[in-house]
Amino acid sequence: MDIKITKTTNPKAKPTDVSKLGFGQFFSDHMFLMDYDEGVGWHDPRIEPYHNFELDPACVIFHYAQEIFEGMKAYKTAEGKIQLFRPDCNARRMQDSADRLCMPKVPVEDFIQAAKALVQVDRDWVPDHEGTSLYIRPFMFATDVTLGVHASKKYTFCIITGPVGAYYAEGINPVKIYVEDDYIRAAPGLTGFTKCGGNYAASIKAGDLAEKQGYDQVLWLDGVNKKYVEEVGSMNIMFKIDGEIYTAPCEGTVLPGVTRRSILELCKDWGVKVHEEHVAIADIMDAAKNGKLEEVFGCGTAAVISPVKELKWKGDIAKIGDGNIGPFTQKLYDTLTGIQWGKLPDSKGWTTGIDE
Ligand code: COI
Repeated sequence: MDIKITKTTNPKAKPTDVSKLGFGQFFSDHMFLMDYDEGVGWHDPRIEPYHNFELDPACVIFHYAQEIFEGMKAYKTAEGKIQLFRPDCNARRMQDSADRLCMPKVPVEDFIQAAKALVQVDRDWVPDHEGTSLYIRPFMFATDVTLGVHASKKYTFCIITGPVGAYYAEGINPVKIYVEDDYIRAAPGLTGFTKCGGNYAASIKAGDLAEKQGYDQVLWLDGVNKKYVEEVGSMNIMFKIDGEIYTAPCEGTVLPGVTRRSILELCKDWGVKVHEEHVAIADIMDAAKNGKLEEVFGCGTAAVISPVKELKWKGDIAKIGDGNIGPFTQKLYDTLTGIQWGKLPDSKGWTTGIDE
């Protein structure tokens, strides 16, 4: 791609207090844009100063939510190198989301080139304090002006970025999770495996109710039986029971997380037995009662690795461990972030420099 770059003449002030970065509060100076028209394909790849969109109110995105997105991060190493973590996995997952939402695919190499070029332009926005990174949010939406329920013939692919700290206010401290027994997030044949905005829109009410009860997020059960654990609002979830790891399989209703996949690969390397299978919430609660539920943690790009200290299901509360991050969760966190921040050797070739 030949990306046209227009730099801002009015750079924004960068946040100075890294302890207050939070997640998704600050945005860097530039954005990547590219348009799609049926019969033409993707065209006009460009980097421009961050700005508002001007869209017709009848655009398909506003009415039928034909929208997908991704989440990645850029990390600055102690040597000052800026690197991405497995962007090819995000590019391919976005293609799978596009296919399900009947949207055009962005070629993997163009997706990676666009993300790298944008981070190169905004390289001064990549924070270098422990636990911080530049969050990268690629997204695509339908721009056809029509109220007919059909696939749009026009789309915009955009990437914005911004410096972030921890996703949860708790940071690496354990969170409390409410097991949702009424609403569902996904069912076979629907869009659970995609990163489409609609999945998240439908999840907000349950998340809001959980927060009002003092819980950080919702753990979703399968949409058919409301029996098997699937995933948490913004991350996949894993359970360590009797020394072995259990997590829901990616069979269409669970997001195939890049962090999830990386953790499972690490577990296999370490000889830790992994079960990608349907586990009943009742069995998780029993394991907690019998002292076999050793650790629970969520994992995702935004959340990184997030230990869980409490689960609430149908009024029953399971306390996990002593309420602190468990040793296995800590080891995973240290290994994964060690590779991402360049503190540990990347023997798997998961990272790629933005200038490579
Ligand atoms: C990510 O982990 O990058 C996500 O997209 C989760 C997001 C919904 C906060």
